[in-house]
Amino acid sequence: MNPWVLLDEAEVPGDGGKMKLYQRAFEFSISVKNDELMNSRMHGSEDALAELACKHVADRPTPRVLIGGLGMGFTLRAALEHLGANAEVVVAELVPAVVKWNQSHLADLAERPLEDSRVEVRVSDVGLVIKEQTEAYDAIMLDVDNGPDGLTHEGNDRLYSRGGLNAAKAALKPGGMLGVWSAEPDPAFTKRLRGAGFKIKEVTVRARGKRGGRRHTIWLAEKKA
Ligand SMILES: C[S@@+](CC[C@H](N)C(=O)[O-])C[C@H]1O[C@@H](n2cnc3c(N)ncnc32)[C@H](O)[C@@H]1O
Repeated sequence: MNPWVLLDEAEVPGDGGKMKLYQRAFEFSISVKNDELMNSRMHGSEDALAELACKHVADRPTPRVLIGGLGMGFTLRAALEHLGANAEVVVAELVPAVVKWNQSHLADLAERPLEDSRVEVRVSDVGLVIKEQTEAYDAIMLDVDNGPDGLTHEGNDRLYSRGGLNAAKAALKPGGMLGVWSAEPDPAFTKRLRGAGFKIKEVTVRARGKRGGRRHTIWLAEKKA
């Protein structure tokens, strides 16, 4: 078995500790505070997040969607695949090094999505991007952490709070879709989504394409038209 090689490391803004990028043969891993956040061999549910949310809005004339964060670019690639040529995809990433890694070591994993002319990258907390505009997005997809319970950035709790959900709802166009990824179910979060007035569907999807028993949770929360 090949050993893991550390390729680079960076500070997570807001005292989130160190984020590290490792490679072992063709496999990549990103960790935060020495916990694995993302592995390139497992992205079935990250793809599904974009597929499920974008399918809902792909028929609109010029769909505009927001993804937070970039990670290894799999959700972004899936969004591009499920949206047409007129779409605009804004991707907000908190850690500048992650954008740099997607332009270098990780670029080919998801077929260089940052080079697609429909993509705008914002190096920013997605929570701030959400608050910039109202009725601006047809869909918002959040995969910034292990789920509503956080790991990367303590401030992420705000995104999943009632206030964060209200902000996401305000940033969505009528009938728009909020998609949220999580490693685990979270009944309290389901309740909060419902309390914020979304029409919700909770689905479990395979972590790794058609293989393996491990499953992740995706909430699809529709802003009523
Ligand atoms: C699990 S990864 C995302 C994986 C991604 N869905 C994919 O397909 O590769 C989480 C990403 O969100 C970023 N992130 C964490 N908190 C964030 C925030 N508040 N705003 C924007 N990006 C954030 C992390 O730096 C990391 O790149």
